Amino acid sequence: MDATPPPKPAAHADALREAAERFGTPTYVYAEATVHERCRALRDALDGLPTRLLYALKANPTPALLRVIADEGFGFDAVSLGEVALLRALGVDASRILFTTTSTTDAELDAAAEAGVLPNLDDAERVAAFGDRHPGAEVCVRFNPGVGAGHHRHVVTGGAASKFGVALGQAEAVAEAAARRGLRVVGVHQHVGSGVRSAAELWPAVDALLGVVGHFPDLRFVDGGGGMGVAYRPGEAGFEPAALRDHVARPALDRLARAGRGDVDVWFEPGRYLVAEAGVLLTRVHTLKDTGERVFAGTDSGFNHLLRPALYDAYHALVNLSNPGGPPRPYDVAGNVCESGDLFARGREVPEIRRGDLLAVLDAGAYGASMGSTYNLRPPPATVVLRPDGTLDLVRPRRTPEDVARDVLGGAG
Ligand SMILES: Cc1ncc(COP(=O)(O)O)c(C=O)c1O
Repeated sequence: MDATPPPKPAAHADALREAAERFGTPTYVYAEATVHERCRALRDALDGLPTRLLYALKANPTPALLRVIADEGFGFDAVSLGEVALLRALGVDASRILFTTTSTTDAELDAAAEAGVLPNLDDAERVAAFGDRHPGAEVCVRFNPGVGAGHHRHVVTGGAASKFGVALGQAEAVAEAAARRGLRVVGVHQHVGSGVRSAAELWPAVDALLGVVGHFPDLRFVDGGGGMGVAYRPGEAGFEPAALRDHVARPALDRLARAGRGDVDVWFEPGRYLVAEAGVLLTRVHTLKDTGERVFAGTDSGFNHLLRPALYDAYHALVNLSNPGGPPRPYDVAGNVCESGDLFARGREVPEIRRGDLLAVLDAGAYGASMGSTYNLRPPPATVVLRPDGTLDLVRPRRTPEDVARDVLGGAG
């Protein structure tokens, strides 16, 4: 029996073909219904428990998706003043925003506090310095849980080698420094890493964080971070919301209750889980180069639009929307950036690709457009949203090479 899982199909294939026809390529298409569904899956799993969900918008700050997620009742984890400004411009109340930054300037923290956003302080020195400037303020403190997890070493954010968070062993000193300044530590936080595929990988970090709770009498929440992964490869298992409930949220709440801290809520802040599978990068193949050893299919996109394969060696399923029933052949699917690492896949079996064929790069909704650049001075893709009623809306029109050149010229020329 063949144990190889079948290739991943593209959801909404007809709508994707229509989007390419109407708006051209390269184009990101986001299905709002998928984001709704993911929000609800997490929310429903945690229903009835004193929990709160924030969306880490670094994964994808497309306003249409932020509106969906805000409507689903999520708060937001912002990592820059730009993200805060975007949320505020969309009408998100400051009380729904946590400001989680690293290597932050005093000026940034002051601006966040001024805006009424809760700062999440990343180092012990910052707690004292912030307290000196804002005595009596409320803050969250990010801890390094001492363990890490994630799909690639670049996205592991816990453990001795990580730049993030206060060491657990400094919790008492941080609590004292805060108390001396009248700072009220209302939250403690950890984020273990990104692309964690099971609750079992998340729990040790949350468990470690719970160990510092006793130092902080004003606590209202323990933030267990994000990291919930998705199944990029065919046949892979994704993160189970029920497992988050049973193996992280409930045990954490039970432990808090046993410690007499039943008034402390448990928060999570997923990014990828809500948006990854909602997004597809549409790209057309313009060149086919058969070297005798390999066949390169050259597309009109590249790592300037989706960096994950080049940066993390990440897998994204590829679907040939023009020839779905074609005989599978191995291709190196390349981008048009002048770097040899600019490949979406190496030796990937894809139904036969002909010049002009439309490819869908699946599960590109998280850390795709948000990590994009105009490297080589190529414009970013257009952005299209597939509404739940099937309507396709162009929410970010395609920019031209001249637009990009103008950005570089700036006012100075
Ligand atoms: C502090 C923090 N919270 C949440 C997230 C979201 O992670 P993910 O997209 O893996 O859920 C990140 C991502 O790096 C993060 O740094």
